[in-house]
Amino acid sequence: MCELLWKEAVGKREEPKKDRIRGEPIRARGSGECGNCSDRKMLLSFLAVSSLGAAVLYALFSWLIPAVVQYNGWWALFWHDVIVEKTLDTLTRSTRPQRLLRAVQQKAIKGDPQSVISAIDYFCRHSEWAMNVGDEKGSILDSVVCEVCPTTALELGTYCGYSTVRIARLLPPGTKLITLEFNPAFAAVARQVIEYAGLQNKVCLVEGASGDLIPKMCQMFGIKTFDFVFIDHWKDRYLPDIKLLEECQLLRKGSILLADNVICPGTPEYLEYVRNSPHYESKYFKSHLEYTKVEDGLEKSVFLG
Ligand SMILES: C[S@@+](CC[C@H](N)C(=O)[O-])C[C@H]1O[C@@H](n2cnc3c(N)ncnc32)[C@H](O)[C@@H]1O
Repeated sequence: MCELLWKEAVGKREEPKKDRIRGEPIRARGSGECGNCSDRKMLLSFLAVSSLGAAVLYALFSWLIPAVVQYNGWWALFWHDVIVEKTLDTLTRSTRPQRLLRAVQQKAIKGDPQSVISAIDYFCRHSEWAMNVGDEKGSILDSVVCEVCPTTALELGTYCGYSTVRIARLLPPGTKLITLEFNPAFAAVARQVIEYAGLQNKVCLVEGASGDLIPKMCQMFGIKTFDFVFIDHWKDRYLPDIKLLEECQLLRKGSILLADNVICPGTPEYLEYVRNSPHYESKYFKSHLEYTKVEDGLEKSVFLG
């Protein structure tokens, strides 16, 4: 009896309307907070969280990570060469060499090699790192070129032509720098950078792999020996290529080899060879990996015959 009376009483109470999907009671507008106010609050919180997130990401990508990777070679190369380069290539639909060339065309003075060098250094310090020898090691390169004053000069690895411009601008009249680059896209940009610097008559850029081209130097250019060789291509090619230069008798007593990146990324076999061979007298010039604070250096080796 009691149970019947209870069910009747409960059954008469109005059931709250329920959300058909979630099955939860629907709160009537005006029953608590007004709908517009809660929407506005949600929008404001969303905006605050998004702005904070964007600020944190901006600080991380434009300041914190670049500052940290300044001190670690592996992370520097991974960050600049893999993460940043690939991201910017995708976002801008252009390549790093193309962006570097644009910076030269916008900032440098046509026919002025020094302004081309400065424009590239500025771009690499403030916009995007690139694997040029850079300003710090570049001044060591300059002083070796001036000291040798070569009449025959070879560069292995042109990339965008930064070191080519550095070397060529210091060569005595009548001397041509032969530079080898196997990537056609890099070679195309380098040609434009060299021309912008007004040094096209001092440089001969040959497209192809060093291993194929070194034995053809005499046949192609009538060169008997090189006074100066700047070695700055892929690191595992340093040793085979100087052995090839020796075999092809392209080195004379007193020829100078200057090798970049002997510490970072590093060329241990090459260093061991030139430092221990009785055919070379070798000296290390301590510096830093281009546009960073990571230790790197140049190895200058005199061929003793
Ligand atoms: C470190 S970058 C050169 C940077 C340049 N010397 C400068 O300081 O501006 C190395 C370049 O060597 C080229 N390279 C690597 N191995 C090569 C090879 N065996 N023959 C010709 N070019 C090569 C790469 O394509 C790359 O452009």
